[in-house]
Amino acid sequence: MGLHRLTSITLGVPDVEASAAFFRDFGLAESAPRAGESTRLATRDGGEQVELVGAAGRRLLRLGVGAEHGDDLARIAARAADSVHAEIVESTPDLLALRELATGLRVEVTVAEPYVAPPTPHTFNRPGTVPERVDVPAESVMTDEPVRPSNLTHLVYGTPDQPATLAFFTDVIGFEISDQVPGIIAFTRCGPVHHNLAIQAAPVAFPHHIAFEVDDVDDVVRGGQAMIDADPDRHMWGVGRHAIGSNWFWYLREPGGTYIEYTSDIDRISEQDKYRPKQWQGHEYLYSFGPPPPPEFLEPADMADLIASS
Ligand SMILES: [Fe+2]
Repeated sequence: MGLHRLTSITLGVPDVEASAAFFRDFGLAESAPRAGESTRLATRDGGEQVELVGAAGRRLLRLGVGAEHGDDLARIAARAADSVHAEIVESTPDLLALRELATGLRVEVTVAEPYVAPPTPHTFNRPGTVPERVDVPAESVMTDEPVRPSNLTHLVYGTPDQPATLAFFTDVIGFEISDQVPGIIAFTRCGPVHHNLAIQAAPVAFPHHIAFEVDDVDDVVRGGQAMIDADPDRHMWGVGRHAIGSNWFWYLREPGGTYIEYTSDIDRISEQDKYRPKQWQGHEYLYSFGPPPPPEFLEPADMADLIASS
């Protein structure tokens, strides 16, 4: 496919500085203020991937998707022109901006470079394999360095018209479906990672959670622990391992109410025809092991406010 990754998001939040402080603690690097520009934070390997703007309530305002070639933008524009789910709002040689009509979300497709990540410094010893680490302790127990997320890897987006939003992302933008629980949620991808965007049926459009990939499970645990050591109220759900996608997770709550996830070791898919999705039922897809999800993960506490302000 011509798409290969998420590039960036714009998140509307009621208190920009409070949310920015959360993301700084989470391990993102806030860019120096630029006159007239919004607050931006960078991941380690993906550059400025989070933009925060003031809003009455939390909202996903923009989603960026990276394509390999300019030709990919032209193909998407042609499909958008024929779709009842999309409106073209801006088109230049470097940028195609569409509006997803069921929720109003702005989706920007640009030509983007792939992520280039340094090799993890962590070593692992396993039975039956040559030890990677001998005579020294594990790196993760010896370091005081804060965890730095590598990249923006996925989000879960609630929509009041799940079939329409899913059709927009699959039929127009070109995402592929990796797994789905019919009527509840579809896990879609724009590259080799099992899911970059999960589209969930909801009473109202809202960002359920946003996930950042870290190097391994050590960093999932170390990052989550540091966040709740600083403020225990940030804890939402974890540590555990999902069933769909197999990824490790620890979810935290940012001040605007959106859940923010450290994740690692998610499944990769080489070709659609080679992947064999399971038939998932109910909520079994949520996790393979770990503590059960708190009710607030399934039904955010601010849902009534989100509905009232929609
Ligand atoms: Fe997630």
